[in-house]
Amino acid sequence: MKKFKSNLIKTSVLCGILLCFSGQLRAQSPTTLDIDASKSVAEIAPTMYGIFFEDINFAADGGLYAELIKNRSFEFDNPLMGWEQPNSDRHSYNKASGIAVPVKYSQQQTNHNFIRVEVNDPKGYKLINNGFRGIGINKNENYKLSFLATNGSGSITQIHFKLLDEAGKTIGSSSVSLSAGDWKKYQTELVAHTTSEKASLEITFSGQGDIDLDLISMFPENTWKNRENGMRKDLVQLLADMNPGFLRFPGGCIVEGRTLAERYQWKKTVGPVADRELLINRWNTEFSHRLTPDYFQSFGIGFFEYFQLAEDIGATPLPILSCGIACQFNTGELVPMDQLDPYVQDALDLIEFANGSVDTPWGKVRSDMGHPEPFHLKYIGVGNEQWGPDYIERYKVFNDAIKEQYPDIIIVSGSGPFPEGDYFEYGMEELTKIGAEIIDEHYYKSPEWFRENADRYDSYDRNGPKIFAGEYAAQSVAIASPQNENNWECALSEAAFMTGLERNADVVQLTSYAPLMAHTEAWQWTPDLIWFDNLSSYGTPNYYVQKMFATNRGSDLLKVSADGKKLIGQNELYASAVKEVSTSEVIVKVVNTASSAKTIDFNIIGLKVGKKAEQIVLTSDDLGAVNSIDNPKNIAPESIQVTVHKGVQLAPYSVNVFKLKIEK
Ligand code: AHR
Repeated sequence: MKKFKSNLIKTSVLCGILLCFSGQLRAQSPTTLDIDASKSVAEIAPTMYGIFFEDINFAADGGLYAELIKNRSFEFDNPLMGWEQPNSDRHSYNKASGIAVPVKYSQQQTNHNFIRVEVNDPKGYKLINNGFRGIGINKNENYKLSFLATNGSGSITQIHFKLLDEAGKTIGSSSVSLSAGDWKKYQTELVAHTTSEKASLEITFSGQGDIDLDLISMFPENTWKNRENGMRKDLVQLLADMNPGFLRFPGGCIVEGRTLAERYQWKKTVGPVADRELLINRWNTEFSHRLTPDYFQSFGIGFFEYFQLAEDIGATPLPILSCGIACQFNTGELVPMDQLDPYVQDALDLIEFANGSVDTPWGKVRSDMGHPEPFHLKYIGVGNEQWGPDYIERYKVFNDAIKEQYPDIIIVSGSGPFPEGDYFEYGMEELTKIGAEIIDEHYYKSPEWFRENADRYDSYDRNGPKIFAGEYAAQSVAIASPQNENNWECALSEAAFMTGLERNADVVQLTSYAPLMAHTEAWQWTPDLIWFDNLSSYGTPNYYVQKMFATNRGSDLLKVSADGKKLIGQNELYASAVKEVSTSEVIVKVVNTASSAKTIDFNIIGLKVGKKAEQIVLTSDDLGAVNSIDNPKNIAPESIQVTVHKGVQLAPYSVNVFKLKIEK
């Protein structure tokens, strides 16, 4: 009995080893990818991989917009929010210092407030702005400061500006002499001798008396393209590096507003910056776990700047407009059908603003802003994430009006916030019935969902509407959970899913991850593609996935199969293939979601490729790994040269782009 037992143990150990070995053999036996390069399945739309921009997480004010002073015009609900007067007491005459009070004036319609500073003792009075979670200042860089002042009595002779580091030490300073009289713009420059991520701007005065101040603004000189009123260079560079096919703006739910009054109205965001009326940001108090009461929209980046950004980074502009329904997750407030005209007119006027000749009223506004050439708008979105009959009813009105005047403009509609269920099915059915051209789908789902849905579009009607996968991101915990992370499992799963988007490029013509950006201290929603603090920024692993696909988009879709089937998770592998005519390359994307290495063979049918190829690999053995400000390239792509005539290795948990040169 004892002997039997020990034989049994030996046998099972051996079986285990053999099983394990045969498992390894199975894992190691190569998967052959049959790539039919003899014909193009479809052209890949130049818009295939793009960017979704929304002012959420301090993405605009405090982020992309390079303005460093928060509440520069004293227009927040609390007009002195963001400003400190450490030596002033509201309940005293402040004889040893002074005090600023907001003044509301009515003669201007958009810039309602200024401050009146009463300086009693210039040695004691200070006004300090703390920026957006501090002011990011780089050593030896030039900062351009400007302000408006009216110095009626002329008793204040100078204003002094100091940049203070976190410890309150002066790291740069400048003074401006004032003249007496009515409102006037003053300018100066500051240079700091030390870098500080959380500096502040201290303002003091020479003289005693009152002075009125407004629009106190400070920008780095070194903005993207050195533009005044410019954008943060590092952030735009990250966007440009993605080679985006389109730029969708301005969101997102921000388009809709919590109420109709708080919707995004593009006309209020163009023209002189000082005249753009501030609006609360809808993400200000959206999440009780991430309250951001100091979040407003200055519209320093408005529609002109978005169009210009799109042009700068070679992306097709894709503006989305309110369809007359406020965010249905909030009030869902509706414009009555007989009052929809101004909303529709906004859409028509926007097309004129973007494309109209300089002789048209809105084309002239664009021209006066410095861009007489058209912005070549081709797409316009009606509604963001709307659902139900109210949306369809309103969408039809927009559709008819736009098509009547601008038949070539392609209209993007939306199927609501979920990729399945009643809202989705109703929206898809109704929009298909009325011949919608492109439907925007959104999915914030688990990483497993992304891996399991790589075949989502395989069954879509090839003659139906085209698809814009307009907002998607794998959620490591739950939708919009503050615990979500941009970890490697999420990025890897998105990559697996994206091979499915690409394989269906005849139907799916635009895709974008969402949201795009987040300030490390001021975010409301996570995960996000790009994170930044006041000085630095980094791309997440998800960013690198997007970049690998977008910079290797290809011009023509090729059919790829293994054992005669699409590769959508068998053996934990996913694949898509394209040809890039301009560089004579076959480009194959293969995602290995397994914890073990895999071997693949290429069988290219219909043309000859060289034996050497470039393999771009994004990998980590830790599914929980993330990038960070301190370790921005923890997970980042690497390029190697490989020989493709025999088995090619795929690392465990890896996203791979193979670039095979076509030989004549
Ligand atoms: O991307 C964040 C939000 O998610 C968008 O504003 C909205 O469209 C979606 O619900």
